[in-house]
Amino acid sequence: MTDSSIEEATRVEAAKTLLGVRRYDPNIVPFVGALLTTDTSDSLRQQLVQALGAIPDTSGGGQLVDHFSELSTTLQLNAFAQIVKRSVWTSLLLDALESRQISLNQLGSANIHRLKTHSDRDLAKRTLILIADIRGPEEKEMEHLIATFSQVVEEPGNLENGRTLFATNCGTCHKFNGEGGDLAPDLTGMGAHGSRDLLTHILDPNRVVEPNFVSTSVETKDGEILDGIVVGENTSTVMMRNVTGTFEIQKQDIQNRRSSGLSLMPAGFEALGSDGLRDMIQYLCADDSQYRIIDLQTAFTANSQEGIYANRQSKKESLRFKQFGIVRVDGIPFEIMHPEKSQTGKNVIVLKGGRGYSKRHPRKVVAKTNIRAERIHVLGGVGGWAWPFGGDKYKGRDVVRFTLLFEDGLTEETVFRNGIEFADYNGRANVPGSREAAEIVRYGQVRWFSVNVKHDSIIKSVTLESFDNEVAPTFVALTAQTR
Ligand code: HEC
Repeated sequence: MTDSSIEEATRVEAAKTLLGVRRYDPNIVPFVGALLTTDTSDSLRQQLVQALGAIPDTSGGGQLVDHFSELSTTLQLNAFAQIVKRSVWTSLLLDALESRQISLNQLGSANIHRLKTHSDRDLAKRTLILIADIRGPEEKEMEHLIATFSQVVEEPGNLENGRTLFATNCGTCHKFNGEGGDLAPDLTGMGAHGSRDLLTHILDPNRVVEPNFVSTSVETKDGEILDGIVVGENTSTVMMRNVTGTFEIQKQDIQNRRSSGLSLMPAGFEALGSDGLRDMIQYLCADDSQYRIIDLQTAFTANSQEGIYANRQSKKESLRFKQFGIVRVDGIPFEIMHPEKSQTGKNVIVLKGGRGYSKRHPRKVVAKTNIRAERIHVLGGVGGWAWPFGGDKYKGRDVVRFTLLFEDGLTEETVFRNGIEFADYNGRANVPGSREAAEIVRYGQVRWFSVNVKHDSIIKSVTLESFDNEVAPTFVALTAQTR
């Protein structure tokens, strides 16, 4: 079974046969578990994960938990899916989190959300307590650090100095306005998040990390330690990337491989000092100072990587985004959230209506804000079963009530209509109240339009409420244009 010259299917069968007789020898399950970290192919290990997940007693899940940190990101997702199938195994996973053998970042926010909402109430409760214990003290310290700089980074800075600081400290990994490396997300347009949000990302890179960017540490047999993100692997080699470039390591040379649980982005940029941070953040925000992205994480109702309308299994019935992160539509920055980065694993708002699964979405969602805006730009304007579906008899029907609540208690309301602002996601039908947002989805369309804000006061929240009729209205992003 450890002989890599034997065909994969045969080796998997051998492992399954062995697992079948595990009660005769307590070493069998750990033996198969250890195969997860030897120089086998990803597909073989994937099948081993499944074989271990199919053992009904604690030992299989125990192996998956024990070797979790040593698995690739894809395998970790597979192993997680097996572990949460059983409460006992999930409990072992929580033990490993508690002892810091596995870090929260390795799990990623979507998986943490699954633990927090585990159908076993006790486990869900234990997760919440555990996370507060792990994150609480760190977060408190970070909040303190962020508070120290949060005033000064709002002030005007020296943009030329900011540009230099960015090039030397960040440009090796990040691109901005076309310049820099491509190891990390392109930061062009990030300024629309506002200076406070950027400050948080810069000082606390480990707060939310996409599992793809968690760094791995490899120790070779001759004692060399290499850090970076794993970008690919096959039977004999692991491909990694870091600031020095992309490199390959032979698996036979690897002594030890562990996920660090930390972002590849280094911590400690407070060393730039308040003037440095201000100049750099002002430089990053300069082009987008009139825009502010509205955080929709509490409002998202569905994951675009699943079906979002008639049923969750039908992945084609969704908005299939070409890319995630900041996109510019006719000059306006919008953020298309990656579901793995979102706190709930969801990244679009689909409101109740239509048929099937979309009838189970909430009818109304609220996003909190704290901005004084002149206009709100909406990326969405499409729906399941929207016009021209069903023909002209549904044209002009109300689909969504959009309500702004201001600091002084006043509200402002606008109603969006089928065949006016909203059109079917499936196809590219044109409607007079919105425009197609080009290059956003692989199939069908997403549209955009703007709502003028009359009242000049701070907006505390935005509410979207469907009329729960034939249309399941859908929103991707909201960006405010400030006064
Ligand atoms: C060694 C590479 C590296 C360096 C240097 C680095 N970053 Fe990052 N940064 C990353 C990676 C990888 C991510 C994505 C994963 C994450 O969120 O941790 C990231 C994420 C970010 C994000 C969040 C992006 C998003 O789409 O949510 C911001 C903002 C950011 N970095 C700013 C900076 C700034 C400003 C500097 C310089 C002071 C910097 N980074 C230096 C690697 C780096």
